[in-house]
Amino acid sequence: MDATSQRLLMCRPTYFAVDYAINPWMDPNAPVDAALAVGQWEQLRQTYLDLGHTVEEITPVPGLPDMVFAANGGTVIDGKAMAVQFRDPQRADEAPAFRAWFEAAGFETYDPKHVNEGEGDVLLAGDHLLAGTGFRTAHAAHAQLQEVFGYPVITMQLVDPRFYHLDTALTVLDERTVAYLPEAFSAGSQAVLRRLFPDAVHATMADAEVLGLNAVSDGRHVVLPAQATDLAAKLRDRGYETIGVDLSELRKAGGGPKCCTLRLRQGKASK
Ligand code: ARG
Repeated sequence: MDATSQRLLMCRPTYFAVDYAINPWMDPNAPVDAALAVGQWEQLRQTYLDLGHTVEEITPVPGLPDMVFAANGGTVIDGKAMAVQFRDPQRADEAPAFRAWFEAAGFETYDPKHVNEGEGDVLLAGDHLLAGTGFRTAHAAHAQLQEVFGYPVITMQLVDPRFYHLDTALTVLDERTVAYLPEAFSAGSQAVLRRLFPDAVHATMADAEVLGLNAVSDGRHVVLPAQATDLAAKLRDRGYETIGVDLSELRKAGGGPKCCTLRLRQGKASK
């Protein structure tokens, strides 16, 4: 399997905290070790660098504790950046910060017309854009994504509030296949996934409950939460190299490695 060198955007968790609850993972009364969160994030960043990826950083903004979850900052494909609109007011001010970053970096930037939480819900799998809905990104946003990017958009209905973003329930492993938790999807979406990806890896609830599917693959190496041991074993059986990272503190906000990572796809060649 060939690894693709990736250009990634991350946001240091300088102001990370769990001050509000907008998903079932978040408990503002539970302790969070902010210094440990930074250390774990730095390890994730170093893991990408060691794999030969390029990591760019957006400056964190005080008062936006979830900004570390850069995947929600946009969707960037073929040099086009679709900015985001968050469902929750607590995250609203992240959107213009990411938008400004895309513009400054030279991406052709588009404004969302509906709630759209970026790569949290929008994943490019081969030549299809898989787009989640049910909790965050509005179904209406899917049509705009198809119009802007020109990839067929496949709607994925999420049904379990713990797996509120598509990237908590499904990982794109390479151009041909994915790993996912079937129970996180409606019956119809499960049928679509079986049709599109007959060779997909099915994760267990135990893997998903440690956010094991919130993983980043370069086609060969898969960076995933260290606690997702069953999923890692299945991926190794398929020939992937797995790299476990511990993001215990960020998981208290409902995020894992993929949430912290936005893929910047320059053009077709570096897709
Ligand atoms: N606390 C954040 C939220 O609920 C976590 C976002 C996780 N990001 C992701 N791509 N799944 O919005």
